[in-house]
Amino acid sequence: LSDGPLSGRHVLVTSGPTHEPIDPVRYIANRSSGAQGTALAAALRDLGARVTFVTGPASVPPPPGVQVVRVETAREMLEAVQAALPAEAAIFAAAVADWRVANATGQKMKKDGSGRAPALEFAENPDILATVSQMAEGRPRLVVGFAAETHDVEAHASAKRARKGCDWIVANDVSPATGIMGGTENAVIILDAQGAEHWPRMGKDAVARQLAARIATALTEGE
Ligand code: C5P
Repeated sequence: LSDGPLSGRHVLVTSGPTHEPIDPVRYIANRSSGAQGTALAAALRDLGARVTFVTGPASVPPPPGVQVVRVETAREMLEAVQAALPAEAAIFAAAVADWRVANATGQKMKKDGSGRAPALEFAENPDILATVSQMAEGRPRLVVGFAAETHDVEAHASAKRARKGCDWIVANDVSPATGIMGGTENAVIILDAQGAEHWPRMGKDAVARQLAARIATALTEGE
C-alpha cells in the first residue's frame, strides 16, 4: 500500500536480541523473540512507509517488503542504524545487550585441566536509543524507545524517557506471570510529553497496528 499515510517516508525499526560473543562458538544473549519489532515493521510497511529493519538474531523471520539489515552485536547494530539514517522516525524495539564480553577470545576457550573456570569480564555496550535521541544534527523527528520492566512500570519508563531523550516510550510489564516476553500478547503504556496512555491487553499485531497509526498521525500532523 504505497499510497498510505506514510507513503514515501523512511522509518527505521530495530528488533530482536543481540548476541555478544564469548569466543567463536559461544555467546551471551537474551530471550527476545523479535515478535513485537517484526509486527511493527510490517504495520509501518502497510501504511506505506519505506522501512529499514535492523535486526539481531531473532526467532521470528523478518517481514517481507522491508529492507532487512542483519546484525549480531550491539556495536554492529549501532553502526547499521547510523548507516541507515536519515529517517523521519526511528523505533527501537530491539532488546540490546547492555554488556559485551570484554575478554572474548578469537579461538575457542578450552578446559585446561586445572578445574578452574574462566572468568568473563564485561564492558558496557553503546546505548543506541540514547545516541540517536541525542544527535545534534539529523535526529529523526520521532524517536521511540521500548521499556521492559517487571515493577513500577510507569515510573521507571517515565524516568527512562527523560534519561535517554526519546519522544515516546512504549512500556510493558515483562514479569513472568504476564507471559508477555516470548508470548503473543502485550499490554503497553505509551509515555510521551503529554503523559501516559494505558492500552488494554491485545495481540502484538494489534499493538503494532495501533502504534503504527499513532506514528503516522505524529508524522503527518499539521502538514
Ligand atoms: O535501558 P533499557 O535497555 O531498558 O532501554 C530499552 C530501550 O533502549 C529499548 O528501546 C532498546 O531498544 C533501547 N536500547 C538501545 N541500546 C542499548 C540498550 C537499550 O537502543 N544498548
